[in-house]
Amino acid sequence: VVRGFSSSAVRNVVIKNVTIIGGGQMGAGIAQVAASTGHSVTLVDTSDDILKKSIKTIEGSLKRVVKKKFADKPEAGEEFIKKVVQNVSTSTDVESAVQSSDLVVEAIVENLKIKQDLFSRLDKLAPPHTIFASNTSSLSISDIASSTSRQDRFGGLHFFNPVPMMKLVEVIGTPATSQETLDSLLNFSKVLRKTPVSCKDTFGFVVNRLLVPCIMEAIRLYERGVYACYYNSDASKEDIDIAMKLGAGHPMGPLELADYIGLDIINSVIEGETKDPNNPLFNSSDLLNKLVAEGKLGRKTGEGFFKY
Ligand code: NAI
Repeated sequence: VVRGFSSSAVRNVVIKNVTIIGGGQMGAGIAQVAASTGHSVTLVDTSDDILKKSIKTIEGSLKRVVKKKFADKPEAGEEFIKKVVQNVSTSTDVESAVQSSDLVVEAIVENLKIKQDLFSRLDKLAPPHTIFASNTSSLSISDIASSTSRQDRFGGLHFFNPVPMMKLVEVIGTPATSQETLDSLLNFSKVLRKTPVSCKDTFGFVVNRLLVPCIMEAIRLYERGVYACYYNSDASKEDIDIAMKLGAGHPMGPLELADYIGLDIINSVIEGETKDPNNPLFNSSDLLNKLVAEGKLGRKTGEGFFKY
């Protein structure tokens, strides 16, 4: 890190120390890839129990990576896991966790007010050069950044689930984000061995803007029963998924994908505060609402559109 300059003079901050706030599904994954690529990571959550689970998740995921990568050298694999885990420290104290941080990546609950409160606190605690990034899927980066006095050093880093597997990172700049910050975030994504794409701070960025309407249209097709097979009406869900897999080359059908993402997450994206209310592509669906109300949230609860 270039220190001793005023923040505006810091060009292309080299990111070494990364603080990740939120050790859930996404935060643990981001911590894993950052630690695997030699960063010193501090993972923050609200309790030690949650953080213990996050480390367990990271270890489990690393074991799967190592099985493939070090198939013929199991000792080297063990060594790799040890080294990566050593790169991750955990904390429930945000204050100390951001003190020597070059980059803070926030992956906490999807709630604007809670994210703003967190960043407004961090803004006072973190050094001036520290870049702030949010992993939000459906909130406006500008709205989150407005709680800080470092909007030039604030951007979006939108990872995909499961983070260790998915190659893409959407790097989001707001009108206030400086070119240096964007360059640092793009560069950081490449160092993580991901492929970044730059996006504007618009609803759904690129992937969800295209994917969520596709999923919602699939749900609506199924809801209307238009594509129910006449000799086996139960097959319509499968038919929709098979059609998109074999006809459009998608690795998963849209309904299977919805179950994988989580039906509650899909609902929270379409209810996002920043969407255009006049755009029918993001209208809700009675069937989706019913499944969510019944606790059928997809893979994670054992049932959504399909049973697991
Ligand atoms: P999660 O529920 O698995 O994890 C969130 C974690 O944040 C929990 O461990 C919780 O204890 C912790 N947390 C909540 N408030 C906190 C606070 N004030 N300080 C510290 N820790 C706090 O959620 P998940 O799925 O990891 O999502 C996190 C963020 O990533 C959300 O903004 C979501 O929109 C975004 N995202 C989610 C994706 C997904 O597929 N699940 C994909 C891309 C982005």
